[in-house]
Amino acid sequence: MALSPIAILGTGAYAPNRILTNEELAQRVETSHDWIVSRTGIRERRVADPGQTTADLATEAAREALANAQITPQDVDLLILATVTPDLDMPATACLVQQKLGIPSGAACFDLNAACTGFLYALDVAWAMLSSGRYRHALVIGAERLSSVLDWEDRTTCVLFGDGAGAVVLGASRRPGSAILASRLHTVAGTAELLHIPGATFSFDPADPKRVIRMKGKEVFKLAVRAMEDVARELLEQQGVSGDQIDCIIPHQANQRIIDSIAQYLKLPLDRFFINLDRYGNTSAASIPIALHEARMQGRVQPGQLVLMVAFGAGLTYGGALVRW
Ligand code: ACO
Repeated sequence: MALSPIAILGTGAYAPNRILTNEELAQRVETSHDWIVSRTGIRERRVADPGQTTADLATEAAREALANAQITPQDVDLLILATVTPDLDMPATACLVQQKLGIPSGAACFDLNAACTGFLYALDVAWAMLSSGRYRHALVIGAERLSSVLDWEDRTTCVLFGDGAGAVVLGASRRPGSAILASRLHTVAGTAELLHIPGATFSFDPADPKRVIRMKGKEVFKLAVRAMEDVARELLEQQGVSGDQIDCIIPHQANQRIIDSIAQYLKLPLDRFFINLDRYGNTSAASIPIALHEARMQGRVQPGQLVLMVAFGAGLTYGGALVRW
């Protein structure tokens, strides 16, 4: 029996209420609103309350995605949570979300770490698992509490990141044509040190074991532009689609200048890109699902349209997915 194509059936997003502006940051470290806006495009970001965990953020986003897909937690038999900020070293934060949502015992629940590309990695894995016919409905979540892994004295990183969560529900397509069409995942070998958080027992620099984000921004910037451009071209070529046919591009929301460069190299108008990094900063694995949800809510993604998502992150991982909505 031929299996139905797999599609995104619903989306959801959640961001903590607390807004941290550039002006506030400028009171903590030597920076300015103008510097941050001109170099990154970021104006403000959200920060979780002290008691708010990654699982809490993920649960809120997932609830909205389930309601949007019109299914209940009982219908979910696969939960993949992409994050670099799990609440515990074990068990997976996905297990905490399972409990909070009341997803039944028996569902497969696990975390996945591919940094800012995590959501696209999780989407690919869930797509493959559903396509096997062994699972029916997957909840794919990107959730981050990056405020807990920032060095608030390091102006080169603390201005860039924010907290939040986004989620999608995957299942058998309900509309003719609507489907995940293609996905490609990659990693640039030998680039792990450029962007990392030291672990409990290992740091690239033994003199700097603090478990906070360390980044060589300039190198990451260059690789990010090339990686997202390459994977976008790869997907378009593979699917025989021209850039003009893409209705909406949802790029990882790291830096406005990175997005400007990709648009320029791909010769695509900037207004085809959905951008909300001015309000959230870089929320790592949560960035694409939050943007996708907002794009849908604003009517930027309509049934029948082609949506291209591209991301890069620590690893350096990168990837893309092409979806017919
Ligand atoms: N405020 C004011 N000045 C600053 C700040 C700041 N917040 N941060 C750095 N500077 C200073 C630097 O110290 C430097 O001063 P110097 O010339 O006296 O040494 C000057 O500004 C220029 O610094 P650069 O690093 O050259 O600035 P650049 O234009 O490269 O911008 C940035 C830095 C924004 C980090 C950029 O390189 C970037 O966006 N890189 C990509 C980062 C990224 O996207 N990371 C996320 C990866 S995804 C993931 O997996 C987490």
